[in-house]
Amino acid sequence: MKTQLRKSLLTTIATLAASLLTLHAAQAYEVVKPLVDTASLPASAKTWDEPNPLRSNKDAAVIGRSAFNQACAQCHGADANGSRSPAPDLRRMGLGCRRIQDEALRTRCMGDADAFFVKSVRYGKQKFGIVHMPPWEGVLTPEVVWSIRSFVETAPK
Ligand code: HEC
Repeated sequence: MKTQLRKSLLTTIATLAASLLTLHAAQAYEVVKPLVDTASLPASAKTWDEPNPLRSNKDAAVIGRSAFNQACAQCHGADANGSRSPAPDLRRMGLGCRRIQDEALRTRCMGDADAFFVKSVRYGKQKFGIVHMPPWEGVLTPEVVWSIRSFVETAPK
């Protein structure tokens, strides 16, 4: 009983310390509005509806790469190479979907991953009042977020 109490106390302290560190990291960053030209993108990209309307659009991936490096790389790694970044490696999102043979199921799986991506970006990540990632609602348009998504999923692993 005593050891268990001590264990849970230690876990709580460790979690708190980790949260404080993240808080410190998050506060050191600004929400940067990336400067990109989205004029070449189709009007279908002006909505938040998944699946990603810009999937496999090459222009979008180029625009997305620039926007990503301006706004997201500070936490998720340059060119989305997040293997050593403080925030999750975004190249993995939805990767498992590609192995699904059934096309309808695969599309649905990608759509779910897209929806989670968009939700994460628009509303950010807060836990217990601590901001792990700021919200981008009002800063990034759907075209820019879908472009970033298109870049991230084609970025070299
Ligand atoms: C201040 C640092 C920071 C910035 C800037 C930032 N993020 Fe994040 N992001 C995080 C952290 C930390 C997490 C993990 C938070 C969690 O799960 O509680 C995260 C999680 C995510 C997730 C969910 C990933 C998953 O597997 O759960 C997505 C998607 C995401 N970020 C996209 C972006 C995009 C796109 C941008 C740029 C527009 C961006 N982030 C900018 C810190 C940041």
